[in-house]
Amino acid sequence: MKNITLNNGIAMPIIGSGTNTYGKEGNEYRGALRGDTQEVDWAIDNGYRHFDSAQVYNNEEVLGQGIANSQLPREDFFITTKLNTFEGFAGADWAHAEIEKSLEKLQTDTIDLFLLHNPWDNPTEMLEAWGILEDYYKRGVFKAIGVSNFKEEHLDLLLDNAAVRPAVNQIKSQVGTWNEALIAYNKKNNIDTVAWSPLGGIDEQAKQTLEEIGNQYGKTFAQVVLRYNIERNVIVIPKSHNKERQAQSLAIFDFELTENDRELISKL
Ligand code: A2P
Repeated sequence: MKNITLNNGIAMPIIGSGTNTYGKEGNEYRGALRGDTQEVDWAIDNGYRHFDSAQVYNNEEVLGQGIANSQLPREDFFITTKLNTFEGFAGADWAHAEIEKSLEKLQTDTIDLFLLHNPWDNPTEMLEAWGILEDYYKRGVFKAIGVSNFKEEHLDLLLDNAAVRPAVNQIKSQVGTWNEALIAYNKKNNIDTVAWSPLGGIDEQAKQTLEEIGNQYGKTFAQVVLRYNIERNVIVIPKSHNKERQAQSLAIFDFELTENDRELISKL
């Protein structure tokens, strides 16, 4: 497993498992919890130690329970979760209560990476919310803090005013929407990029191109896309409800793309 060293020195595995439908009826985002931890168990068995969760997924407890069931030490895992800021910010007491709920559901005293899930239209509130994350970071409860879905102007707000620089910006970067300019902006500001839904956006034509590239190495279209990302130091968090496909997504450290391959992929 390759790690990325974040701007505060914390090591983050370059590939982790997404979790937003894990443990849910019908594998649906809005499904009720089934009461088991099947996908997390498989992922751990396959060798995943980095998991990406969020309050808005309503299933942090599935990840917490799966990790507990594994009986592996907590320090073997890298856990990300995110404050649900899709409705904005309901005040410091609300934020503290939501963070404490995350710690409880994840059955942990510390979170490796804690993110503001989405920007909203109130700079004063965004700085207040970030200040709360900084406080947990300074107390050692959060090992690193960052943001998600932030554009340049949102990052500028934090970079100009905050004491702690975000360690990551988790954004959409996939076939059809690579978001190269934002990734470059993150990089210029010493912020690592995490790509959510890295296997999204692949239509039949793109799949065919990716398969042709993969055939040279005995790899699938999904492995080619994931490899493309890690070769440019973008952290990926694919998820699958199939144990074999989970394993496949991890098997990307034994081949290299050529410049020509990368050029073709960048145009998809
Ligand atoms: P499945 O669960 O049937 O494997 P998202 O964009 O929400 O992260 O979803 C990723 C999608 O990619 C899922 O629908 C998942 O379907 C699929 N997927 C995950 N890993 C692989 C893989 N290695 N090969 C092909 N499809 C994959």
